Amino acid sequence: MGTPAAPVAKTLPAGYYTDPERFGREIEKLYFESWICAGRTRQIAEPGDYFLREAGGESIIITRDGSGVPRAFYNVCRHRGTRMCTTPEGNLPGRIQCPYHGWSYGLDGCLMGAPHMDEPTFSRQDYPLHSIPCDVWDGHIFIHLGTRPEPLAHHLADLPRKFAHWGMQDLRLHKRIVYDVKANWKLLILNYNECLHCPVLHPALNRLTDYLGTDNEAPTSTYMGGAMGFRGGAETMSMDGRRRRDYLPALTVEERKRVCYYTIYPNLLLSLHPDYMMTHTLWPKAVDRTEIICEWHFHPAEIMKPDFQADDAIEFWDQTNREDWGIVELSQSGIQSRAYMPGPYSSREDLLHVFDEWVIARE
Ligand code: FES
Ligand SMILES: [Fe+2]
Repeated sequence: MGTPAAPVAKTLPAGYYTDPERFGREIEKLYFESWICAGRTRQIAEPGDYFLREAGGESIIITRDGSGVPRAFYNVCRHRGTRMCTTPEGNLPGRIQCPYHGWSYGLDGCLMGAPHMDEPTFSRQDYPLHSIPCDVWDGHIFIHLGTRPEPLAHHLADLPRKFAHWGMQDLRLHKRIVYDVKANWKLLILNYNECLHCPVLHPALNRLTDYLGTDNEAPTSTYMGGAMGFRGGAETMSMDGRRRRDYLPALTVEERKRVCYYTIYPNLLLSLHPDYMMTHTLWPKAVDRTEIICEWHFHPAEIMKPDFQADDAIEFWDQTNREDWGIVELSQSGIQSRAYMPGPYSSREDLLHVFDEWVIARE
């Protein structure tokens, strides 16, 4: 008698994608107890530059203090709790001032001024802004809203070495598109990690890359992904596969021949091309709604060239994004049906099952 075949791995029950209470718990455990990618250091190039991020109902100020250190704070005044910054990005004039009664805070979070607080027992030192751990990897800013953050380096494991040749911190933002997708954030990660849908859904993409040719590496507890080579003479992911920019300067010959697609849990999708970097960060708004910030970053030497072109890459991925978001919204709709029940994964959807198990293990 042979060994009995292992049961077929199946998709998760509907509640993982439809239950608002489960969603609340997921945000607590999977987002707030992890490093999440907030943005790029270039967004806060100068002291006082800032941008806001919203995660799980929290508003977070990310800024650079007077000594050049990136900082993150809850957007909550220590007087009576008011949300202080409301414009999504800008420059703080050396301090953060609450618009209610004028308490003001330094860019390092210390309370500098508290009008009318004359009580002898009041001490400004007792009321700094609530600070959030903040760290940087190769130009990406990460924040951690949990109580016991492990070092970011543990979370990233071998990724800094693996992706050093792309020189990510040198790359400059050229284009950002924000998408509002009516789907659970996990469905977007599942979709990113398989290309079985590529021939059906992405005819343009499928001409450039072999959908069965993904070279995935063994998933870890904090990331998963792999590389895909080009086909048909394509040299990058663009409308016609033609590369209109020089290769990123430090890439090896092998690295020039493929695109690396990695999910760094829980919210960064990192797509490293031979001539540019695309990032998606996922910001869950509700169990069935996710904001996605997609950015295209290029080497500054390319951007400065008078004949610099990027529309080919932006148009290509914007179209592909919209195809993906559309199908994932249909997936969300079907999962919400009372007829839905978990369906079987194929062996080529193994990363998806691994991700589901990662979610289950952290419930
Ligand atoms: S609530 Fe901010 S100064 Fe009063
Ligand atoms: Fe896709």
